[in-house]
Amino acid sequence: MYRHIIKPILFSLTIEQAHHVVMLLLRIIGVIPGGRWLLRKCCAVKHPALEREVFGIRFPNPVGLAAGFDRNGEALREIAALGFGFIEIGTVTPRPQSGNPRPRVFRLPKDNAIINRIGLANRGLEATIRQLRRPHDGVIVGCNIGKNAATPPEEAPYDYLKLFRNLYQYADYFTVNICCDNAVREEWDNAREYILQILNPLFDFRRGQNQYRPVMLKISPDMPDEVIDRITDILLETPLDGIVATNGTHHREKLRTSHTSLTKIGSGRLSGAPLTQRAIEIVRRIQTRVNGAYPIIGVGGLMTPDDVRAMLDAGADLVQLYTGYIYNGPGMVKEVCRALIDDARKAEGTQVAEAKAETAGSRTTAESQPDVPTLTETDTAAKPAEEVSDATPDKEAAARQTSQEPASSL
Ligand SMILES: Cc1cc2nc3c(=O)[nH]c(=O)nc-3n(C[C@H](O)[C@H](O)[C@H](O)COP(=O)(O)O)c2cc1C
Repeated sequence: MYRHIIKPILFSLTIEQAHHVVMLLLRIIGVIPGGRWLLRKCCAVKHPALEREVFGIRFPNPVGLAAGFDRNGEALREIAALGFGFIEIGTVTPRPQSGNPRPRVFRLPKDNAIINRIGLANRGLEATIRQLRRPHDGVIVGCNIGKNAATPPEEAPYDYLKLFRNLYQYADYFTVNICCDNAVREEWDNAREYILQILNPLFDFRRGQNQYRPVMLKISPDMPDEVIDRITDILLETPLDGIVATNGTHHREKLRTSHTSLTKIGSGRLSGAPLTQRAIEIVRRIQTRVNGAYPIIGVGGLMTPDDVRAMLDAGADLVQLYTGYIYNGPGMVKEVCRALIDDARKAEGTQVAEAKAETAGSRTTAESQPDVPTLTETDTAAKPAEEVSDATPDKEAAARQTSQEPASSL
């Protein structure tokens, strides 16, 4: 239905018009009695095998909506009813800003990609607080925060701190967005110092709070590998909780879209299929460097369940979708969740088979000891779904330990 009816209609509009229509429809569904229930029935999957505990928060599933879609938290319950396990709102800036002149978002259908130079258009801190004060039924909300375009880089830490303090009680976690076009640009050499100037006041503020809010850092895929390593080390050296990898790229290599079209579109961050490999590679690089001990949200070019699998295999604890969702539509979260449930079932099946093989082996070697208790088929088949284990229990235990010991790590 999405591919044949809704997508052609939405794709006949500009991408921003389509976005407004979708947000409006979601809000309308939200006020119709039973609207969210129906959405949930059609799009959401609930299963114990999907649940994840990451930085001390229990996620109903690991598939989130990336920043930039619901910038001010206007349709949280409706988006959650579409099946997402969490929603990252923002980027929010202290004052409202209109962003760059239109047109500023472009589809690249030949590449399953989008280029955007929206420039962090959003309604600002106060409007976001108003939205977050409305009931949102326990939906897990991350707040992605950034500085206003007019704020000079040396004053950026004040913008971030203002947002962090004022949104602290409303968010489940924060993402510090330093990789937008109006932040550090390509000055990677100073990136580490710039980031620390922003993060340290947030850690100071958090120390005085009763409740712990994880702080993630969102990075650009255009950072050279050695800069990614230096930024990864911030995880080891400070109370930073994790990394969101990655934002869109400025690179334009290996695209099917013609050079003329690309020149006409101009600058902006490219997201979608051309980003998949780089985003996965960065997540793997970070997790290798930190021995898989810190939470990573993998985002960038996740267009299919297999892309999500590859991102999780690379070490991501959670994933986020944006461009893949635009191209595939509301069935995508369900499709990904079903694939993850299948994987968990297969993993469980393998465990059962291994247990059986072990049992059979010990039976033959211990024929003279018939009283040794063994796992029967019924025992293993009756294993409740809740016991289906996650793929990376060690890492999650480590991450939990990290997030549950904020005081000692501060
Ligand atoms: C139209 C659009 C707007 C975006 N706005 C933001 C934003 O405000 N803040 C942010 O951190 N990321 C923003 N992003 C980046 C996404 O959150 C995501 O990191 C990126 O698109 C890569 O994921 P994808 O390939 O699945 O789209 C935006 C992306 C798009 C396509």
